[in-house]
Amino acid sequence: LWLRYPKVPIPGRLAEYQAAFKRVVKSGTGASLDIAEAELVKGLSGLTGGTVATGAAVDGPGAVVIGTAAADVIKGLPLAARLGALGPEGYLVEAADIGGQPVIAVAGNTEVGVLYGTFALLRHVQSHSALDKLSLTGSPKIGHRILNHWDNLDRSVERGYAGRSIWDWSALPGTLSPRYKDYARANASIGINGTVLTNVNANAQVLTPSYLTKVKALADVFRPYGIKVYLTARFSAPVEIGNLSTADPTNASVKQWWTNKVNEIYQQIPDFGGFLVKANSEGQPGPQDYGRTHADGANMLADALAPHDGIVIWRAFVYSDTSPPDRIKQAYEEFKPLDGKFKSNVLVQAKNGPLDFQPREPFHPLFGAMPKTPLALELQITKEYLGEDTHLAYLGPLFEEVLKADTYAGGEGSTVARVIDGTLHKYATTAISGVANVGDDTNWTGSQMNQANWYVYGRLAWNPDLSSEAIAEEWVRQTFSNDPVVVEPVVQIMMQSREALVDYMTPLGLVHIMGNDHHYGPGPWLNSLSRVEWNPVYYHKADANSIGFNRTSSGSNAVAQYAAQVGQTFGSRDTVPDDLVLFFHRVGWQDKLKSGRTVWEELVHRYSQGVDEVGVMRETWKSVEGRIDGKRFSDVSDFLQIQHYEARWWRDACLAYFGSVSKLQVPSGYAPLA
Ligand code: GCU
Repeated sequence: LWLRYPKVPIPGRLAEYQAAFKRVVKSGTGASLDIAEAELVKGLSGLTGGTVATGAAVDGPGAVVIGTAAADVIKGLPLAARLGALGPEGYLVEAADIGGQPVIAVAGNTEVGVLYGTFALLRHVQSHSALDKLSLTGSPKIGHRILNHWDNLDRSVERGYAGRSIWDWSALPGTLSPRYKDYARANASIGINGTVLTNVNANAQVLTPSYLTKVKALADVFRPYGIKVYLTARFSAPVEIGNLSTADPTNASVKQWWTNKVNEIYQQIPDFGGFLVKANSEGQPGPQDYGRTHADGANMLADALAPHDGIVIWRAFVYSDTSPPDRIKQAYEEFKPLDGKFKSNVLVQAKNGPLDFQPREPFHPLFGAMPKTPLALELQITKEYLGEDTHLAYLGPLFEEVLKADTYAGGEGSTVARVIDGTLHKYATTAISGVANVGDDTNWTGSQMNQANWYVYGRLAWNPDLSSEAIAEEWVRQTFSNDPVVVEPVVQIMMQSREALVDYMTPLGLVHIMGNDHHYGPGPWLNSLSRVEWNPVYYHKADANSIGFNRTSSGSNAVAQYAAQVGQTFGSRDTVPDDLVLFFHRVGWQDKLKSGRTVWEELVHRYSQGVDEVGVMRETWKSVEGRIDGKRFSDVSDFLQIQHYEARWWRDACLAYFGSVSKLQVPSGYAPLA
């Protein structure tokens, strides 16, 4: 991954580092401090090409002093006064003077804060940055920064493209794969502090005693890395594994069953994080099965967890199976009336957009609409609709786009970032989740470049105001090389990749036109699936005259779910961005867009541009040949070749289909369809 520590090749910088990093002096004891010390020894030894030792005292220049605010040596430093404001996970890394010796201090309010500071220092050095005036400060803006594994107990992974689940349930708890520690290191290095081990389409078995001992074994590995374990709770568990005849959340025996179950979990895992729940969605059981609301269901679990400080993360990804006129409206309709009805340890988790992790969709209208209920943002790191393992699509710009989207809930500047970090509505609890792309593949994520999506998720979860481009650069420097002839082209490829993919898959606000179930290749023609809202034609509605879904006031009026300012922008043909036009409007093929082209011409243009952009990405990648190791070079080249072919497949299939519906030809000047 990005935890690579090759010797610094620039002589001046190397000498600077060798002088500054001679030994690591740990002040205090504890498992997380031990890890911080070991990480520094390993990382700095590699980067300086020598042996950085551990030491008991400063003992001359070149010490890296690590400790919490409670350590005497840290208390005596000027930085100590500034630590308090940084919260339990915050850190400061600074040059300091101890007994006349220049040192570098890595300080946190807690041991985990020290560990985060450690990784910040390593990142700084991995990027070959100067130590002069070194001052690194960090504290997370979002409290719970979580990975959601959609991993099943049989080690299959729903929407997983990186091999099997890394949780080897049959070997646990007796055997602990070394991967568990590496996974924890990687997460801690980017600030992730929670992991939901199991699929949202949950199997109640994980709540049985034998599985809980396995969960405990994982929790014990992750704890010193600051990572809490969560589980998905299948709502019908009291029936399935508890021998009750109902799972009605108002039933006293059901409540007692969950209370007992939660107590049992906390006996094994005292810092258990809580439950993630998918209920009454896509066939999953839930409180509505008993005529109860989402709030009734969530609050019942919340009551059981509250004495232990556990939380419930209740998903808002719901849509009915009764042929809705506009599927995307349902979450808002079900949850908005419940605002204020949830217990204080419940968060409602909404996907970034109202549909389902598309290459591009507008932000979810629940953001900004639930001032009394902490909303968590769910992003998908695994690229279910974005080319899975093979297509290179760096998700930083997608994540940044949603975080910066302005809900206008409290006037201008009410971005999704300000909603989920709690500042807009003064949420007491805050959370963000990323659907993990991790599996047991050697490269962890199904492709070399998909590692960047895990990385950027963690970095933005820590600070949603960071720029995705700056994070791409950080990642390239740590993962591949600091040489500008590598950094510049690879960052360029990454930064253009998501837009290229939108162009060749779903330009102009098209959504969900992928083939059924696998969601990989094109399938805009599909129209015979059992549920109407699974069919691509439901979304694009193309016919001989027009294309697009009318969500304005003359259509489904989904725009009314946004604050007035946003709804008006999306709802007017004059102001809706071309990038979302077909998501909100039904337009004639010959209507003009902002580009000056007609809708049909623009569609052809964007599909063609997407293919061309992948061609450019491929060419650009060739320039790093010989500058990075051959294995990773060819892995990425091979996938770019597949992507280039498949971008053409997307272009040709979609234009052939839409052309057959509209009876329009591809204009001259564009590559003929294969
Ligand atoms: C998508 C995905 C499912 C998943 C669901 C969810 O629909 O295809 O596999 O279960 O999202 O988020 O619950």
